[in-house]
Amino acid sequence: MAADRWTPESWRAKPIQQVPTYPDAAGLVAVEKTLAGYPPLVFAGEARKLKRALGDVAKGHSFLLQGGDCAESFAEHSADNIRDFFRVFLQMAVVLTFAGASPVVKVGRIAGQFAKPRSAPTEKRGDVELPSYKGDIINDIDFTPDGRMPDPRRLLEGYRQSAATLNLLRAFATGGYANLENAHRWMLSFVQDSPQSHRYRELADRITETLGFMRAIGLDAEKHQELRATDFYTSHEALLLGFEQSMTRVDSTTGDYYATSGHMLWIGDRTRQADHGHVEYCRGVKNPIGLKCGPSLKPDDLLRLIDVLNPEDEAGRLTLICRFGAERVVDHLPALIRAVKREGRTVVWSCDPMHGNTISAGGYKTRPFERVMSEIRTFFAVHQAEGTNAGGVHLEMTGKNVTECTGGARAISEGDLSDRYHTFCDPRLNAEQAIEVAFLIAELLKTERASQAPQVHAAE
Ligand code: PEP
Ligand code: CO
Repeated sequence: MAADRWTPESWRAKPIQQVPTYPDAAGLVAVEKTLAGYPPLVFAGEARKLKRALGDVAKGHSFLLQGGDCAESFAEHSADNIRDFFRVFLQMAVVLTFAGASPVVKVGRIAGQFAKPRSAPTEKRGDVELPSYKGDIINDIDFTPDGRMPDPRRLLEGYRQSAATLNLLRAFATGGYANLENAHRWMLSFVQDSPQSHRYRELADRITETLGFMRAIGLDAEKHQELRATDFYTSHEALLLGFEQSMTRVDSTTGDYYATSGHMLWIGDRTRQADHGHVEYCRGVKNPIGLKCGPSLKPDDLLRLIDVLNPEDEAGRLTLICRFGAERVVDHLPALIRAVKREGRTVVWSCDPMHGNTISAGGYKTRPFERVMSEIRTFFAVHQAEGTNAGGVHLEMTGKNVTECTGGARAISEGDLSDRYHTFCDPRLNAEQAIEVAFLIAELLKTERASQAPQVHAAE
């Protein structure tokens, strides 16, 4: 299969899962044609830079932080939401950079994370059965026949919103807002307000001291661009392939095809069949690619997917985003790691502690904070035992103070969920829970570093 000629539309000849049926087929063709004439959202050179950064993660020199909404929504598109998310994300990155004493590669699930795979194609309420909500770029969350009808015009709105979001993110990342002193100040105010502040205070104080020292020797944001700006990348699930195809462009410097809808694309756990459309599309674009690895993925299937998606064994090309569920990591992860090691393949191992830990409580989908942390801890422990790198995490999170996941320092209870349950799809960590996760991962990174310390010295 891998030898077949690839084109941006070769996926259309393959079997495919999770595609919406558009009643207005002609309208869809017209919209895809319009999009194909629009400017790219990201540049090939940026995707290559991210790939190099992820290559460093694969070698154990950096850590990947990937996160954002399960599904971005058209209704909640505001500067405040983007700013709040970005602030939380940067605070997490500061904590992780310090704890790991290594760079953090920052990748948002943002500026294009609109299309959702669903476990059932239809939803039933009473006697009424309608197509499931598949994300704002496809249909509407409103449970009405009109709303749930896939509408091609939504692709244009998805493009518009992605462009506007990306524009603001670029301004934040390079225009001074993302400077280290700001991120540090926001983080201190989080620590001060947290019911667990005693647990986070020590690390926060050490960062404060380090920044004070840096300032004293003249390393400040005014003079140093590295302290004033940051590299921030975008990612989303490559689910709606008509949209992706329209955004696929040839890079003029290399002659290669790139997806220009975002820097990194990933393949979902439901659409990762090696001979189907989603894998076909992704194998041909040169961006960094993520692959969700759930409990049904067998080691041999993974090796086949690696062959198809990363035949040249390029470092940073492929990130395996593992999402087994807290109790199931030990049953599944070691065999995958051993298979990859045996074949000598280079991958980034990342942990999605969200999608295997969703439960129902009082009519809400939720995720207990302890189970999220438990999956992350087991992920680190397995890598430690196998001698491989726990390379990163993949989180569903928001910068807002929502009540969607239970637990955390404020001990959100199942009864609290109805207070501010705003997600358009899966439950997200709220701002405080997300920063807490970063502080708790910081403890794991510190331990990992301590156990690797002798090798680091030997290498120097
Ligand atoms: C997601 O990341 O929102 C998602 C649907 O994940 P998965 O494909 O792992 O179920
Ligand atoms: Co999700």
